[in-house]
Amino acid sequence: MALNAAANLAERVLPQYPTTTTSGTNPANDPQTLADPSGATMRALVWEGVNKVRVETVPKPRVVDEDDVVIAITGTTVCGSDLHLLHGALLEMRKGDILGHEFCGKVESLGPKAEKTLKKGQRVVISFQIACGECYYCQRKLSSQCLCTNKSAVEKKLYGHHTAGMFGYAGVTGGYAGGQAEYVRVPHASVNCLPIPDDVPDEKALYLSDVMPTSYHCVVDTGVKEGDIVGIWGAGPIGLFAAKWALMKGASRIIFIDTKERLIIAKKKIPQAELLDFQVHTDVPARIEELTKGRGVEAGDAPGLDVALECAAGEYAKSLVHKAQMALGLETDTPELLNECIKSCKSLEGRVGVTGIYAGLTNGFAVGPAMERGIRLIFNGQAPVHKYWHELLELLQRGEIDPVELIVSHRVDLEDTPKVYELMEKRQGGIIKIFVQTKFSADPAPATPPLRPLH
Ligand SMILES: NC(=O)c1ccc[n+]([C@@H]2O[C@H](COP(=O)([O-])OP(=O)(O)OC[C@H]3O[C@@H](n4cnc5c(N)ncnc54)[C@H](O)[C@@H]3O)[C@@H](O)[C@H]2O)c1
Ligand SMILES: [Zn+2]
Ligand SMILES: [Zn+2]
Repeated sequence: MALNAAANLAERVLPQYPTTTTSGTNPANDPQTLADPSGATMRALVWEGVNKVRVETVPKPRVVDEDDVVIAITGTTVCGSDLHLLHGALLEMRKGDILGHEFCGKVESLGPKAEKTLKKGQRVVISFQIACGECYYCQRKLSSQCLCTNKSAVEKKLYGHHTAGMFGYAGVTGGYAGGQAEYVRVPHASVNCLPIPDDVPDEKALYLSDVMPTSYHCVVDTGVKEGDIVGIWGAGPIGLFAAKWALMKGASRIIFIDTKERLIIAKKKIPQAELLDFQVHTDVPARIEELTKGRGVEAGDAPGLDVALECAAGEYAKSLVHKAQMALGLETDTPELLNECIKSCKSLEGRVGVTGIYAGLTNGFAVGPAMERGIRLIFNGQAPVHKYWHELLELLQRGEIDPVELIVSHRVDLEDTPKVYELMEKRQGGIIKIFVQTKFSADPAPATPPLRPLH
Protein backbone atom coordinates (compact mmCIF):
# COMPACT_ATOMS: atom_id res chain seq x y z
CA MET A 1 0.00 0.00 0.00
CA ALA A 2 2.96 2.30 0.52
CA LEU A 3 3.64 1.89 -3.17
CA ASN A 4 0.04 2.79 -3.97
CA ALA A 5 0.27 5.99 -1.92
CA ALA A 6 3.57 6.88 -3.62
CA ALA A 7 2.01 6.29 -7.04
CA ASN A 8 -0.97 8.49 -6.17
CA LEU A 9 1.42 11.21 -5.11
CA ALA A 10 3.54 10.86 -8.27
CA GLU A 11 0.42 11.08 -10.41
CA ARG A 12 -0.38 14.44 -8.88
CA VAL A 13 3.01 15.94 -9.68
CA LEU A 14 3.84 14.35 -13.06
CA PRO A 15 2.34 15.86 -16.23
CA GLN A 16 -0.68 13.81 -17.33
CA TYR A 17 -0.59 12.02 -20.63
CA PRO A 18 -2.98 13.55 -23.20
CA THR A 19 -6.08 11.48 -24.02
CA THR A 20 -9.02 11.72 -26.42
CA THR A 21 -11.53 11.13 -23.62
CA THR A 22 -12.50 12.88 -20.44
CA SER A 23 -11.44 10.31 -17.90
CA GLY A 24 -12.48 10.32 -14.32
CA THR A 25 -13.43 8.17 -11.41
CA ASN A 26 -16.59 8.16 -9.31
CA PRO A 27 -18.77 11.02 -10.59
CA ALA A 28 -19.08 11.98 -6.92
CA ASN A 29 -15.50 13.26 -7.10
CA ASP A 30 -16.20 15.60 -10.01
CA PRO A 31 -19.99 16.09 -10.17
CA GLN A 32 -19.76 19.20 -12.34
CA THR A 33 -18.17 17.28 -15.21
CA LEU A 34 -19.17 13.67 -14.70
CA ALA A 35 -22.49 13.42 -12.83
CA ASP A 36 -25.98 13.57 -14.30
CA PRO A 37 -27.12 17.23 -13.94
CA SER A 38 -30.55 16.09 -12.69
CA GLY A 39 -28.92 14.92 -9.46
CA ALA A 40 -30.07 11.32 -10.13
CA THR A 41 -28.27 8.60 -8.19
CA MET A 42 -27.51 4.91 -8.63
CA ARG A 43 -26.24 1.93 -6.64
CA ALA A 44 -22.64 0.95 -7.30
CA LEU A 45 -19.90 -1.17 -5.73
CA VAL A 46 -17.11 1.08 -4.46
CA TRP A 47 -13.63 0.35 -3.15
CA GLU A 48 -13.30 1.70 0.37
CA GLY A 49 -9.72 0.64 1.07
CA VAL A 50 -7.72 -2.59 1.26
CA ASN A 51 -10.12 -5.58 1.42
CA LYS A 52 -13.14 -3.28 1.83
CA VAL A 53 -15.85 -2.91 -0.80
CA ARG A 54 -19.50 -2.01 -0.41
CA VAL A 55 -22.54 -1.03 -2.44
CA GLU A 56 -23.29 2.66 -2.06
CA THR A 57 -25.59 5.29 -3.50
CA VAL A 58 -23.53 7.53 -5.77
CA PRO A 59 -24.28 10.04 -8.52
CA LYS A 60 -25.42 8.63 -11.85
CA PRO A 61 -22.92 9.33 -14.65
CA ARG A 62 -23.71 11.49 -17.67
CA VAL A 63 -22.64 11.71 -21.28
CA VAL A 64 -19.51 13.90 -21.28
CA ASP A 65 -17.77 13.51 -24.64
CA GLU A 66 -19.52 13.40 -28.01
CA ASP A 67 -18.88 9.67 -28.56
CA ASP A 68 -20.03 8.68 -25.04
CA VAL A 69 -23.04 6.64 -24.10
CA VAL A 70 -24.48 5.93 -20.69
CA ILE A 71 -25.52 2.29 -20.33
CA ALA A 72 -28.24 0.96 -18.02
CA ILE A 73 -26.47 -2.20 -16.90
CA THR A 74 -28.36 -5.48 -17.26
CA GLY A 75 -25.49 -7.83 -16.43
CA THR A 76 -22.13 -7.54 -14.74
CA THR A 77 -19.73 -9.85 -12.93
CA VAL A 78 -16.63 -10.10 -10.76
CA CYS A 79 -13.26 -11.07 -12.30
CA GLY A 80 -10.17 -12.65 -10.73
CA SER A 81 -8.61 -9.26 -11.49
CA ASP A 82 -11.09 -7.59 -9.13
CA LEU A 83 -9.50 -9.53 -6.29
CA HIS A 84 -6.18 -7.84 -7.12
CA LEU A 85 -8.02 -4.52 -6.93
CA LEU A 86 -9.71 -5.52 -3.68
CA HIS A 87 -6.26 -6.13 -2.19
CA GLY A 88 -5.04 -2.77 -3.48
CA ALA A 89 -2.44 -4.65 -5.54
CA LEU A 90 -2.74 -2.29 -8.50
CA LEU A 91 -1.33 1.18 -8.43
CA GLU A 92 -3.29 4.39 -7.91
CA MET A 93 -6.34 2.94 -6.18
CA ARG A 94 -8.48 5.60 -4.56
CA LYS A 95 -11.23 5.38 -1.98
CA GLY A 96 -14.55 5.70 -3.77
CA ASP A 97 -13.41 4.00 -7.01
CA ILE A 98 -16.31 2.14 -8.68
CA LEU A 99 -15.06 -1.32 -9.69
CA GLY A 100 -16.12 -3.67 -12.48
CA HIS A 101 -14.84 -4.03 -16.02
CA GLU A 102 -17.19 -6.66 -17.46
CA PHE A 103 -20.76 -5.60 -18.22
CA CYS A 104 -23.54 -5.48 -20.75
CA GLY A 105 -26.67 -3.39 -20.87
CA LYS A 106 -29.00 -1.12 -22.79
CA VAL A 107 -28.03 2.23 -24.24
CA GLU A 108 -29.73 4.87 -22.10
CA SER A 109 -28.36 8.16 -23.44
CA LEU A 110 -25.96 9.05 -26.23
CA GLY A 111 -23.60 11.81 -27.31
CA PRO A 112 -24.04 13.24 -30.85
CA LYS A 113 -21.26 11.11 -32.39
CA ALA A 114 -22.41 7.87 -30.73
CA GLU A 115 -25.90 8.47 -32.18
CA LYS A 116 -24.53 7.75 -35.64
CA THR A 117 -23.87 4.07 -34.82
CA LEU A 118 -25.95 3.23 -31.73
CA LYS A 119 -29.50 3.87 -30.66
CA LYS A 120 -31.40 4.22 -27.43
CA GLY A 121 -32.51 0.90 -25.95
CA GLN A 122 -29.99 -1.12 -27.99
CA ARG A 123 -28.44 -4.13 -26.18
CA VAL A 124 -24.66 -3.99 -26.12
CA VAL A 125 -21.69 -5.66 -24.44
CA ILE A 126 -18.70 -3.46 -23.65
CA SER A 127 -15.01 -4.34 -23.94
CA PHE A 128 -13.12 -4.05 -20.64
CA GLN A 129 -10.58 -1.79 -22.28
CA ILE A 130 -11.40 1.59 -23.75
CA ALA A 131 -10.12 1.87 -27.29
CA CYS A 132 -10.13 5.04 -29.41
CA GLY A 133 -10.47 3.08 -32.65
CA GLU A 134 -8.00 5.26 -34.52
CA CYS A 135 -4.48 5.05 -33.11
CA TYR A 136 -1.70 2.70 -34.30
CA TYR A 137 -2.79 -0.17 -32.03
CA CYS A 138 -6.53 0.30 -32.49
CA GLN A 139 -6.13 0.20 -36.27
CA ARG A 140 -4.62 -3.27 -35.79
CA LYS A 141 -7.37 -4.27 -33.33
CA LEU A 142 -4.78 -4.42 -30.55
CA SER A 143 -7.25 -2.45 -28.49
CA SER A 144 -5.76 -3.18 -25.06
CA GLN A 145 -2.77 -1.04 -25.96
CA CYS A 146 -4.69 2.00 -27.26
CA LEU A 147 -2.47 5.07 -27.08
CA CYS A 148 -5.21 7.62 -26.49
CA THR A 149 -7.35 6.66 -23.49
CA ASN A 150 -5.08 6.40 -20.45
CA LYS A 151 -3.87 9.59 -18.82
CA SER A 152 -1.78 7.87 -16.12
CA ALA A 153 1.67 9.41 -15.95
CA VAL A 154 2.73 6.69 -13.52
CA GLU A 155 1.94 3.90 -15.95
CA LYS A 156 3.92 5.60 -18.72
CA LYS A 157 6.90 5.99 -16.38
CA LEU A 158 6.69 2.44 -15.00
CA TYR A 159 5.89 0.51 -18.19
CA GLY A 160 7.65 2.64 -20.82
CA HIS A 161 4.46 2.78 -22.87
CA HIS A 162 0.81 2.98 -22.01
CA THR A 163 -1.87 0.36 -21.97
CA ALA A 164 -5.38 1.43 -22.88
CA GLY A 165 -7.68 2.96 -20.31
CA MET A 166 -9.82 0.33 -18.55
CA PHE A 167 -13.09 0.42 -16.69
CA GLY A 168 -12.95 0.12 -12.91
CA TYR A 169 -9.28 -0.79 -12.89
CA ALA A 170 -7.44 1.80 -10.76
CA GLY A 171 -5.87 5.12 -11.66
CA VAL A 172 -3.00 3.35 -13.39
CA THR A 173 -5.37 2.53 -16.26
CA GLY A 174 -6.98 5.94 -16.41
CA GLY A 175 -9.28 6.03 -13.38
CA TYR A 176 -12.50 5.25 -15.26
CA ALA A 177 -15.56 4.36 -13.20
CA GLY A 178 -16.48 0.69 -13.56
CA GLY A 179 -19.65 -1.24 -14.22
CA GLN A 180 -20.51 -3.08 -11.02
CA ALA A 181 -23.25 -0.49 -10.91
CA GLU A 182 -26.65 0.40 -12.32
CA TYR A 183 -25.17 2.77 -14.89
CA VAL A 184 -21.81 3.35 -16.51
CA ARG A 185 -20.44 5.91 -18.91
CA VAL A 186 -18.72 4.36 -21.94
CA PRO A 187 -16.28 6.63 -23.79
CA HIS A 188 -15.65 6.07 -27.53
CA ALA A 189 -18.89 4.09 -27.47
CA SER A 190 -19.06 3.57 -31.22
CA VAL A 191 -15.88 1.50 -30.87
CA ASN A 192 -16.29 -0.12 -27.45
CA CYS A 193 -19.90 -1.35 -27.63
CA LEU A 194 -20.66 -4.56 -29.48
CA PRO A 195 -24.36 -4.89 -30.35
CA ILE A 196 -25.85 -8.13 -28.99
CA PRO A 197 -28.01 -10.09 -31.45
CA ASP A 198 -31.50 -11.09 -30.25
CA ASP A 199 -30.62 -14.80 -30.18
CA VAL A 200 -27.84 -14.30 -27.60
CA PRO A 201 -28.98 -13.71 -23.98
CA ASP A 202 -27.08 -11.39 -21.63
CA GLU A 203 -26.00 -14.44 -19.62
CA LYS A 204 -23.79 -15.44 -22.57
CA ALA A 205 -22.96 -12.10 -24.21
CA LEU A 206 -21.56 -10.66 -20.98
CA TYR A 207 -18.48 -12.86 -21.11
CA LEU A 208 -17.40 -11.35 -24.44
CA SER A 209 -16.28 -8.31 -22.44
CA ASP A 210 -13.25 -10.11 -20.98
CA VAL A 211 -13.16 -13.83 -20.07
CA MET A 212 -13.74 -15.29 -23.51
CA PRO A 213 -11.39 -13.01 -25.52
CA THR A 214 -8.76 -13.06 -22.75
CA SER A 215 -8.56 -16.84 -22.53
CA TYR A 216 -8.73 -17.19 -26.30
CA HIS A 217 -5.91 -14.68 -26.73
CA CYS A 218 -3.86 -16.57 -24.14
CA VAL A 219 -4.10 -19.76 -26.20
CA VAL A 220 -3.73 -18.20 -29.65
CA ASP A 221 -0.93 -15.81 -28.67
CA THR A 222 1.07 -18.56 -26.96
CA GLY A 223 0.63 -20.72 -30.06
CA VAL A 224 -1.06 -23.87 -28.74
CA LYS A 225 -1.12 -26.41 -31.55
CA GLU A 226 -2.06 -29.99 -32.45
CA GLY A 227 -0.68 -32.57 -30.03
CA ASP A 228 0.58 -30.11 -27.39
CA ILE A 229 0.65 -31.08 -23.73
CA VAL A 230 -0.65 -27.97 -21.98
CA GLY A 231 -0.27 -27.16 -18.27
CA ILE A 232 -2.61 -24.50 -16.92
CA TRP A 233 -1.78 -22.71 -13.65
CA GLY A 234 -5.10 -21.54 -12.20
CA ALA A 235 -8.40 -23.35 -12.85
CA GLY A 236 -10.58 -20.25 -12.53
CA PRO A 237 -12.79 -18.99 -15.37
CA ILE A 238 -9.78 -17.96 -17.45
CA GLY A 239 -8.01 -21.30 -16.96
CA LEU A 240 -11.17 -23.31 -17.71
CA PHE A 241 -11.81 -21.41 -20.91
CA ALA A 242 -8.12 -21.65 -21.88
CA ALA A 243 -8.42 -25.44 -21.55
CA LYS A 244 -11.48 -25.46 -23.79
CA TRP A 245 -9.77 -23.36 -26.48
CA ALA A 246 -6.54 -25.41 -26.22
CA LEU A 247 -8.52 -28.62 -26.82
CA MET A 248 -10.24 -26.96 -29.80
CA LYS A 249 -6.74 -26.18 -31.16
CA GLY A 250 -5.82 -29.88 -30.86
CA ALA A 251 -3.99 -30.08 -27.50
CA SER A 252 -3.47 -33.74 -26.57
CA ARG A 253 -3.45 -33.31 -22.79
CA ILE A 254 -4.47 -30.66 -20.27
CA ILE A 255 -2.96 -30.58 -16.79
CA PHE A 256 -4.56 -28.15 -14.33
CA ILE A 257 -2.44 -26.87 -11.43
CA ASP A 258 -4.51 -25.44 -8.56
CA THR A 259 -5.95 -26.34 -5.16
CA LYS A 260 -8.48 -29.06 -4.41
CA GLU A 261 -11.64 -26.97 -4.43
CA ARG A 262 -11.03 -25.58 -7.91
CA LEU A 263 -9.63 -28.86 -9.29
CA ILE A 264 -12.78 -30.80 -8.38
CA ILE A 265 -14.87 -28.32 -10.36
CA ALA A 266 -12.37 -28.31 -13.23
CA LYS A 267 -12.61 -32.08 -13.56
CA LYS A 268 -16.40 -31.86 -13.87
CA LYS A 269 -16.10 -29.20 -16.56
CA ILE A 270 -13.19 -30.70 -18.53
CA PRO A 271 -13.38 -34.43 -17.77
CA GLN A 272 -10.25 -35.39 -19.71
CA ALA A 273 -8.07 -32.95 -17.72
CA GLU A 274 -5.39 -34.23 -15.35
CA LEU A 275 -5.09 -32.57 -11.97
CA LEU A 276 -2.11 -31.36 -9.98
CA ASP A 277 -2.85 -30.07 -6.50
CA PHE A 278 0.06 -27.78 -5.67
CA GLN A 279 -0.66 -28.08 -1.95
CA VAL A 280 -0.09 -31.84 -2.20
CA HIS A 281 2.70 -31.85 -4.81
CA THR A 282 4.67 -28.89 -3.59
CA ASP A 283 7.43 -29.37 -6.19
CA VAL A 284 5.24 -28.66 -9.20
CA PRO A 285 7.91 -29.06 -11.96
CA ALA A 286 8.96 -32.42 -10.48
CA ARG A 287 5.35 -33.63 -10.56
CA ILE A 288 4.93 -32.41 -14.14
CA GLU A 289 8.09 -34.31 -15.05
CA GLU A 290 6.57 -37.49 -13.61
CA LEU A 291 3.31 -36.93 -15.43
CA THR A 292 4.91 -36.26 -18.82
CA LYS A 293 7.60 -38.95 -18.89
CA GLY A 294 7.91 -41.43 -21.67
CA ARG A 295 7.85 -39.59 -24.94
CA GLY A 296 11.63 -39.35 -25.50
CA VAL A 297 13.84 -41.72 -27.48
CA GLU A 298 15.73 -44.65 -26.02
CA ALA A 299 18.80 -42.54 -25.40
CA GLY A 300 16.94 -40.03 -23.26
CA ASP A 301 13.47 -39.16 -22.16
CA ALA A 302 12.04 -35.71 -22.92
CA PRO A 303 9.50 -34.97 -20.26
CA GLY A 304 7.90 -31.56 -19.90
CA LEU A 305 5.08 -29.43 -21.16
CA ASP A 306 4.88 -28.03 -24.66
CA VAL A 307 2.95 -25.11 -23.28
CA ALA A 308 2.54 -23.64 -19.79
CA LEU A 309 -0.28 -21.11 -19.38
CA GLU A 310 -0.09 -18.89 -16.31
CA CYS A 311 -3.75 -18.09 -15.57
CA ALA A 312 -3.35 -17.39 -11.84
CA ALA A 313 -1.43 -14.17 -10.96
CA GLY A 314 1.82 -12.69 -9.68
CA GLU A 315 0.04 -11.80 -6.48
CA TYR A 316 -0.07 -15.39 -5.26
CA ALA A 317 3.24 -15.77 -3.41
CA LYS A 318 3.89 -19.30 -2.14
CA SER A 319 7.05 -19.08 -0.02
CA LEU A 320 7.69 -16.99 3.06
CA VAL A 321 10.57 -15.29 1.24
CA HIS A 322 8.29 -13.85 -1.41
CA LYS A 323 5.39 -13.17 0.94
CA ALA A 324 7.81 -11.09 3.02
CA GLN A 325 9.28 -9.26 0.03
CA MET A 326 5.84 -8.35 -1.20
CA ALA A 327 4.69 -7.23 2.22
CA LEU A 328 7.78 -5.02 2.52
CA GLY A 329 7.24 -3.50 -0.92
CA LEU A 330 10.50 -4.98 -2.24
CA GLU A 331 8.60 -6.56 -5.11
CA THR A 332 5.01 -6.26 -6.32
CA ASP A 333 4.79 -9.77 -7.75
CA THR A 334 6.21 -13.18 -6.98
CA PRO A 335 8.23 -14.94 -9.71
CA GLU A 336 7.39 -18.38 -8.27
CA LEU A 337 4.64 -19.35 -10.69
CA LEU A 338 6.62 -18.10 -13.69
CA ASN A 339 9.63 -20.06 -12.49
CA GLU A 340 7.49 -23.19 -12.16
CA CYS A 341 6.18 -22.68 -15.69
CA ILE A 342 9.72 -22.25 -17.03
CA LYS A 343 11.04 -25.32 -15.22
CA SER A 344 8.08 -27.44 -16.32
CA CYS A 345 8.50 -26.79 -20.06
CA LYS A 346 10.45 -28.77 -22.66
CA SER A 347 13.70 -27.15 -23.80
CA LEU A 348 13.76 -24.93 -26.89
CA GLU A 349 10.23 -25.95 -27.92
CA GLY A 350 8.46 -25.07 -24.66
CA ARG A 351 6.35 -21.93 -24.50
CA VAL A 352 5.06 -20.06 -21.47
CA GLY A 353 2.04 -17.78 -21.88
CA VAL A 354 1.37 -15.28 -19.11
CA THR A 355 -2.20 -14.00 -18.78
CA GLY A 356 -2.40 -13.84 -14.96
CA ILE A 357 -1.84 -10.24 -13.86
CA TYR A 358 1.59 -8.90 -12.90
CA ALA A 359 1.63 -5.30 -11.69
CA GLY A 360 5.23 -4.19 -11.34
CA LEU A 361 8.54 -5.79 -10.40
CA THR A 362 9.72 -9.18 -9.19
CA ASN A 363 12.86 -10.61 -7.57
CA GLY A 364 14.48 -13.99 -8.14
CA PHE A 365 13.14 -14.56 -11.63
CA ALA A 366 14.57 -17.78 -13.19
CA VAL A 367 16.32 -15.97 -16.02
CA GLY A 368 19.11 -18.60 -16.29
CA PRO A 369 16.84 -21.63 -16.72
CA ALA A 370 14.74 -19.70 -19.24
CA MET A 371 17.79 -18.61 -21.24
CA GLU A 372 19.89 -21.77 -21.12
CA ARG A 373 17.00 -24.05 -22.06
CA GLY A 374 15.51 -21.65 -24.57
CA ILE A 375 12.05 -21.31 -23.10
CA ARG A 376 9.82 -19.01 -25.10
CA LEU A 377 8.30 -16.52 -22.70
CA ILE A 378 5.17 -14.95 -24.12
CA PHE A 379 3.63 -12.28 -21.97
CA ASN A 380 0.14 -12.10 -23.41
CA GLY A 381 -0.58 -8.62 -22.03
CA GLN A 382 -3.98 -7.27 -21.28
CA ALA A 383 -5.94 -9.10 -23.94
CA PRO A 384 -7.05 -7.14 -27.03
CA VAL A 385 -10.80 -7.84 -26.86
CA HIS A 386 -11.61 -6.15 -30.17
CA LYS A 387 -9.38 -8.54 -32.08
CA TYR A 388 -11.53 -11.53 -31.14
CA TRP A 389 -15.00 -10.54 -30.03
CA HIS A 390 -16.75 -10.81 -33.44
CA GLU A 391 -15.31 -14.27 -34.02
CA LEU A 392 -16.30 -15.40 -30.52
CA LEU A 393 -19.81 -13.96 -30.83
CA GLU A 394 -20.25 -16.16 -33.91
CA LEU A 395 -19.18 -19.22 -31.88
CA LEU A 396 -21.79 -18.28 -29.27
CA GLN A 397 -24.48 -17.91 -31.91
CA ARG A 398 -23.60 -21.26 -33.46
CA GLY A 399 -23.70 -22.88 -30.01
CA GLU A 400 -20.10 -24.10 -30.33
CA ILE A 401 -19.17 -22.72 -26.93
CA ASP A 402 -21.36 -22.03 -23.90
CA PRO A 403 -20.00 -19.86 -21.08
CA VAL A 404 -23.04 -20.65 -18.93
CA GLU A 405 -22.27 -24.36 -19.01
CA LEU A 406 -18.53 -23.89 -18.54
CA ILE A 407 -18.15 -21.15 -15.95
CA VAL A 408 -21.34 -19.50 -14.68
CA SER A 409 -22.05 -20.88 -11.22
CA HIS A 410 -24.33 -18.27 -9.62
CA ARG A 411 -26.70 -15.41 -10.33
CA VAL A 412 -26.83 -12.73 -7.64
CA ASP A 413 -28.21 -9.24 -7.15
CA LEU A 414 -25.91 -6.21 -7.32
CA GLU A 415 -26.56 -5.63 -3.59
CA ASP A 416 -24.91 -9.00 -2.87
CA THR A 417 -21.69 -8.25 -4.76
CA PRO A 418 -19.57 -7.50 -1.65
CA LYS A 419 -20.42 -11.02 -0.44
CA VAL A 420 -19.21 -12.38 -3.78
CA TYR A 421 -15.84 -10.68 -3.24
CA GLU A 422 -15.68 -12.19 0.22
CA LEU A 423 -16.46 -15.72 -0.94
CA MET A 424 -14.15 -15.49 -3.95
CA GLU A 425 -11.40 -14.23 -1.70
CA LYS A 426 -11.84 -17.20 0.64
CA ARG A 427 -12.37 -19.57 -2.32
CA GLN A 428 -15.64 -20.65 -0.74
CA GLY A 429 -19.17 -21.22 -1.93
CA GLY A 430 -18.20 -22.99 -5.16
CA ILE A 431 -18.12 -19.68 -7.03
CA ILE A 432 -16.47 -19.84 -10.43
CA LYS A 433 -18.04 -16.92 -12.28
CA ILE A 434 -21.16 -15.06 -11.35
CA PHE A 435 -23.83 -13.22 -13.26
CA VAL A 436 -24.82 -10.07 -11.37
CA GLN A 437 -28.26 -8.69 -12.13
CA THR A 438 -29.52 -5.16 -11.57
CA LYS A 439 -33.01 -3.66 -11.56
CA PHE A 440 -32.67 -3.38 -15.35
CA SER A 441 -32.02 -7.09 -15.99
CA ALA A 442 -34.48 -9.40 -17.72
CA ASP A 443 -35.59 -12.62 -16.00
CA PRO A 444 -32.98 -15.38 -16.19
CA ALA A 445 -32.74 -16.88 -19.70
CA PRO A 446 -33.65 -20.57 -20.01
CA ALA A 447 -30.97 -22.98 -18.74
CA THR A 448 -29.13 -20.30 -16.75
CA PRO A 449 -28.76 -20.22 -12.95
CA PRO A 450 -31.70 -18.74 -11.01
CA LEU A 451 -31.25 -15.75 -8.70
CA ARG A 452 -30.22 -16.75 -5.21
CA PRO A 453 -29.07 -14.86 -2.17
CA LEU A 454 -25.57 -15.57 -0.89
CA HIS A 455 -24.90 -16.47 2.73
N1 LIG B 1 -4.46 -10.45 -19.25
C1 LIG B 1 -5.73 -10.14 -19.23
O1 LIG B 1 -6.24 -9.47 -20.11
C2 LIG B 1 -6.60 -10.65 -18.10
C3 LIG B 1 -7.98 -10.51 -18.19
C4 LIG B 1 -8.76 -11.11 -17.20
C5 LIG B 1 -8.16 -11.75 -16.13
N2 LIG B 1 -6.80 -11.80 -16.07
C6 LIG B 1 -6.12 -12.45 -14.96
O2 LIG B 1 -6.14 -13.84 -15.18
C7 LIG B 1 -6.01 -14.48 -13.90
C8 LIG B 1 -7.10 -15.52 -13.77
O3 LIG B 1 -8.38 -14.90 -13.76
P1 LIG B 1 -9.63 -15.68 -13.15
O4 LIG B 1 -10.81 -14.79 -13.28
O5 LIG B 1 -9.68 -17.05 -13.70
O6 LIG B 1 -9.16 -15.68 -11.60
P2 LIG B 1 -9.48 -16.60 -10.37
O7 LIG B 1 -9.04 -15.84 -9.19
O8 LIG B 1 -10.89 -17.11 -10.42
O9 LIG B 1 -8.53 -17.86 -10.60
C9 LIG B 1 -7.18 -17.87 -10.28
C10 LIG B 1 -6.83 -19.27 -9.83
O10 LIG B 1 -5.42 -19.33 -9.58
C11 LIG B 1 -5.25 -20.25 -8.52
N3 LIG B 1 -3.91 -20.15 -7.94
C12 LIG B 1 -3.48 -19.37 -6.92
N4 LIG B 1 -2.19 -19.63 -6.65
C13 LIG B 1 -1.80 -20.59 -7.53
C14 LIG B 1 -0.58 -21.29 -7.72
N5 LIG B 1 0.49 -21.05 -6.98
N6 LIG B 1 -0.52 -22.22 -8.70
C15 LIG B 1 -1.61 -22.49 -9.47
N7 LIG B 1 -2.80 -21.86 -9.32
C16 LIG B 1 -2.90 -20.93 -8.36
C17 LIG B 1 -6.37 -19.90 -7.57
O11 LIG B 1 -6.64 -20.94 -6.63
C18 LIG B 1 -7.53 -19.68 -8.54
O12 LIG B 1 -8.30 -20.85 -8.76
C19 LIG B 1 -6.11 -13.37 -12.86
O13 LIG B 1 -4.81 -12.95 -12.51
C20 LIG B 1 -6.77 -12.27 -13.62
O14 LIG B 1 -6.44 -11.02 -13.06
C21 LIG B 1 -6.02 -11.28 -17.03
ZN1 LIG C 1 -11.09 -9.22 -15.96
ZN1 LIG D 1 -6.47 3.74 -29.81
